[in-house]
Amino acid sequence: MQRAQTPASVREQVSTWRSAGQRIAVVPTMGNLHDGHLSLIRLAAQHAARVVCSIFVNPTQFGPSEDIASYPRTPEADEALLADQGIVDLLFVPTEDDIYPHGITGSVAINLPALAGELCGRSRPGHFHGVASVVLRLLNIVAPDVLVVGRKDYQQAVLLARMIRDLHLPTEIVVGDIVREADGLAMSSRNQYLTSAEREVAGTLHAVLDELAGQLRNGGGSIDKLAARARERLVGSGLKTDYIELRRAQELGAVTSKLPDEPLILLGAAWLGRARLIDNVPV
Ligand code: PAF
Repeated sequence: MQRAQTPASVREQVSTWRSAGQRIAVVPTMGNLHDGHLSLIRLAAQHAARVVCSIFVNPTQFGPSEDIASYPRTPEADEALLADQGIVDLLFVPTEDDIYPHGITGSVAINLPALAGELCGRSRPGHFHGVASVVLRLLNIVAPDVLVVGRKDYQQAVLLARMIRDLHLPTEIVVGDIVREADGLAMSSRNQYLTSAEREVAGTLHAVLDELAGQLRNGGGSIDKLAARARERLVGSGLKTDYIELRRAQELGAVTSKLPDEPLILLGAAWLGRARLIDNVPV
């Protein structure tokens, strides 16, 4: 596994692969790698001959009161884990200056459609603009054939797919499945914020969404009533609901009328102690 810090050195390496006609995939991460990331890296290797993984805790996607200072950073362990897996060809570990040469406030930012202000965007204003701003830079630096992201961040994946289409980027987006703990909790670096007592109830978010999705599939009642009951269950386990919403799976449009004959997705977010958990289940 090679390692690069600057965009120029990434470009140099990638251009030799491209001249050899090899397909390239990129897996962007913020580090503190877990099995969820490893599954994305394995998926990337199924779609391309060369896999680039980036580790960069992107400041522009954190709000002023969010956890950028305490976000778990484990660069040595991450690098050792990736080297041990033997899948990643190039690890890209840029600094803030490498990604934002004009600083964070002075840099060009990406604007996104209204969806960026809905669901997670309501309690995290500006978050998806920051995600898009860093991912577009990574795509411009690596120029990959494939971008691999995870399904846990469903809204992020939809918005990135939208950015790729709207900006005519020559990159295909591939979305990897959620990797879960034994109790259903979706893996996330932020799960580390949970105390052991909180960890014991954290699986409730997935259990509640799963149950609600089952009820909807079986035509068990109106989404509003079912979601209100689901919210009560979350509160009963000590979770504070941010949202539970049923949306169209493709573009996350609102489901306004009677359930249409198209794939829907149930999305939820809840706070538990210091952690904000998110999850989603297809309906
Ligand atoms: O999903 C994440 O970890 C981040 O939002 C990403 C895509 C690496 C951009 O910083």
